[in-house]
Amino acid sequence: DDLVTRMKNIEMIELGRHRLRPWYFAPYPQEIISLACIYICEFCLKYRKSKKCLERHLIKCKLKHPPGNEIYRKGSISFFEIDGRKNKAYAQNLCLLAKLFLDHKTLYYDTDPFLFYVMTEFDSRGKRGFHIVGYFSKEKESTEDYNVACILTLPPYQRKGYGKLLIEFSYELSKFEGKTGSPEKPLSDLGLLSYRSYWAQTILDIMMTIKPLQDHEKPLITINEICELTSIKKEDVISTLQNLNLINYYKGQYIISVNQETIEQHEKAMEKRTLRIDPKCLHWTPKD
Ligand code: COA
Ligand code: NA
Repeated sequence: DDLVTRMKNIEMIELGRHRLRPWYFAPYPQEIISLACIYICEFCLKYRKSKKCLERHLIKCKLKHPPGNEIYRKGSISFFEIDGRKNKAYAQNLCLLAKLFLDHKTLYYDTDPFLFYVMTEFDSRGKRGFHIVGYFSKEKESTEDYNVACILTLPPYQRKGYGKLLIEFSYELSKFEGKTGSPEKPLSDLGLLSYRSYWAQTILDIMMTIKPLQDHEKPLITINEICELTSIKKEDVISTLQNLNLINYYKGQYIISVNQETIEQHEKAMEKRTLRIDPKCLHWTPKD
């Protein structure tokens, strides 16, 4: 029965120093699901049925970071790029873990067409190493210009700005590729909230660098220019400008302009956004 199999089926997982309560169903093996808690290795993401079994695993598991290449590091934040074909077991275990917090995305087994960007924080709490904070997946080739398939911040790290850091990183990759991109639909409610906030802040940042509107005949910035500067896809730029009420009719044409009040609100919001991607710390070339 589809309804039954989709119901939340796991009580608790232990991941490094965190205990997490899953939100949704995930297809872990039946014999694992019936247990009170699943023990997951925080570095290789293999799962075990008891604390004892995990301890035995940890003696052998020498990983202190996700597999794949570290393509970004600034301070304690790193990003690792994992190929879903080359590191299949890791990618599958990551998808299983992520499914616990994702309602509708159903990728677990065929990870070959995807790259996974895992964000870590280095510290010595619990076991010293690069601890997974969140990730996003990305199709190696997207016919629809998707630059993110699934995106997740693990619950202990949510609402601290890491989600927007993941999103910012995904657009930095698109900038390197010289393309615009957009997240795969449908987005969850939390996903949409995060993207809307990211798009608004990114576009307002650009607007603030252009000169205030004077008696020009032409708009001072075009939608296409915003797309080029941010790698945000045109339809997302337009919906954001509409949400922010920045498209106005002026002297017979549509222009994009921003008022003082919006600028002040934006500056205040940006003061709180302390976690940022530094493009200079990205060491990556797009594969094609
Ligand atoms: N309620 C209200 N607003 C929320 C929220 C919540 N529970 N969670 C995030 N937001 C808002 C934040 O307020 C913030 O906006 P602001 O800066 O304008 O205030 C914005 O969303 C991003 O917050 P941030 O802390 O950067 O995001 P996060 O680390 O919590 O991660 C998700 C956001 C979507 C990645 C995270 O909620 C998640 O992993 N959800 C489960 C998986 C999912 O739904 N993924 C998307 C679909 S693939
Ligand atoms: Na959240």
